[in-house]
Amino acid sequence: MCGIIGIASNKSVSVNIINALKKLEYRGYDSAGLATITNGEINEKKCPGRVEKLEKILFQNPSEGNLGIGHVRWATHGVPNEVNAHPHSSEIVSVVHNGIIENSDELKRVLEKSGKVFKSQTDTEVITVLLTEKLKNLDPLNAVFETLDMLRGSFALGIIFKNFKDFVIGARRGSPLAVGYSSNENYLGSDSYALKAMTNKISYLDDGDLCVISKNEVKFFNSKKDKINKEIFTLSEDKSQASKGNYKNFMIKEIFEQPITAKTCLKEYIDKIRGEINFYNLPVDPKKINKIALIGCGTAYHSCLIAKYWLEEFTSLSVETDIASEFRYRKVRFDKNTLYLFVSQSGETADTYAALELCKKENVKTCSVVNVVESSIARNSDCVLPIHAGPEIGVASTKAFIGQMLVLYLLSLKISEIRNDIDRKEYKNKINELKKIPSLLSESLKQEEKIQIIAKDIYKSNGSMFLGRGFSFPIALEGALKLKELSYLHAEGYPAGEMKHGPLALIEDGLPVVVIAPKDKYFEKTLSNMQEVIARGGKVLLLTNSGGKVISENIRFQIDLPESDITLTPFLFTIPLQLLSYHVALFKKCDIDKPRNLAKSVTVE
Ligand code: F6R
Repeated sequence: MCGIIGIASNKSVSVNIINALKKLEYRGYDSAGLATITNGEINEKKCPGRVEKLEKILFQNPSEGNLGIGHVRWATHGVPNEVNAHPHSSEIVSVVHNGIIENSDELKRVLEKSGKVFKSQTDTEVITVLLTEKLKNLDPLNAVFETLDMLRGSFALGIIFKNFKDFVIGARRGSPLAVGYSSNENYLGSDSYALKAMTNKISYLDDGDLCVISKNEVKFFNSKKDKINKEIFTLSEDKSQASKGNYKNFMIKEIFEQPITAKTCLKEYIDKIRGEINFYNLPVDPKKINKIALIGCGTAYHSCLIAKYWLEEFTSLSVETDIASEFRYRKVRFDKNTLYLFVSQSGETADTYAALELCKKENVKTCSVVNVVESSIARNSDCVLPIHAGPEIGVASTKAFIGQMLVLYLLSLKISEIRNDIDRKEYKNKINELKKIPSLLSESLKQEEKIQIIAKDIYKSNGSMFLGRGFSFPIALEGALKLKELSYLHAEGYPAGEMKHGPLALIEDGLPVVVIAPKDKYFEKTLSNMQEVIARGGKVLLLTNSGGKVISENIRFQIDLPESDITLTPFLFTIPLQLLSYHVALFKKCDIDKPRNLAKSVTVE
């Protein structure tokens, strides 16, 4: 879960490395570094903190050189400090690394016994030490191959050599790596997004591949050292990507973009003339399956949970949901009549990808709901359903969540229609209701001022609770996740009906409790649970759509959301929760777009 860049050029590379690292900061931002070959020597500069800090260091003391590598780190082995920051260099070789070397301790012990000294606490440094040894007898390519043979784990590498000033070597084992092409300049990057400002011509390494990048040529090898060719993709232009516009930060921009995100997504999947949902490329006939398994992590997992309710509501299928990090190690009984559906914004999440790989090995049908269509998960599943949300830069997922829910809702409806589980009239009616989502989201966003007042009231609390039933239970989980990751305020999400089985003990005077209660079949029951909270001193924020009616005088705050088809409430009730976490985090002066300890793309286990 770090970011890698490598450039071979006929001109100085450090400015472009810095610019690409800024784009890669979504992958990790606790330290940054680069190494160039300057006057025949490895010139390494690194620091704890953001790329901006590294840029200042370079401003005072520039790094010249036409060949270089760069890195942004999300610490796994060793605290974020200068010594542990990448690159890790010896006199003759310099390495940047994304991922984890699982046998690093073992290798380190052996190397230390033979007198090697380690400077850092990282797993990466074993690669530097091993390569330095191997380069005594081998050329760079064979030294890298031999070193790779000794490593276990999932990783991607960028390597430069003091005595071979013309090329960067890249290697992929599990973690993503892309190559970009330009004239007199070629690139290596953790993803195409980092390379987009420099080129739109991209190839992707597959697992086990290695590449040698010089300014006028890129060579690829597979794990057997055979030379191979790679397809070159032309990326689409995306002009909206990295600008905050007039917004304070990316997260609030992305929250307010959601009506447009929804409109774009609906346009992609609903045929304008016939008003039909189009899914042309499903890898299975929905009539021939009997189960759907939904798999994801974090927010993406929450969209899986909501889809379970939709699929159970609209179809006669069995539905299972799984957190990818559990699924990949469970003794799952794979079934040819099940469709395995993976949900991931980035399409690079290590656990989700590993779960997908497992399914592929078992020869079952897979489908992915992703935002990044060039991602590893998208490229390796049998069918891809993009959410069309555009780049999401804020680490906390907002518009991608809405996009994931939309695609999963459309898919649930379409499957029920194909299987004749829903009647045509109801199906058409649901599509018409769904088309109202963009304007309903805009309406929900109008609650921002009220939510600011609530945020001011609760931001000093020591904890909080989010309750809901039915569709609103996963929304409660998502509300709690957003609040904790953005504002570091402890937050628990619970099915409201579970309260008296334990969590009620947490309720004390003034504890903020968000109750999500749309007017659905659970409404009265959720309100009873709310009264139990109020009776114990909880400070209730009620989210409802009961038409502006005052429900109880003992409620501290009430937010009234627009009415909608009952199955669509997850979309509308998500908005105030996103705004709440945003404003609490603002009051607490947290780093909104880059919450502590997190990264946008979790490419390590
Ligand atoms: C929370 C958040 C994370 C991600 C999770 C999965 O706001 O963003 O919980 O949802 O890390 O990431 P993707 O969707 O990229 O697989």
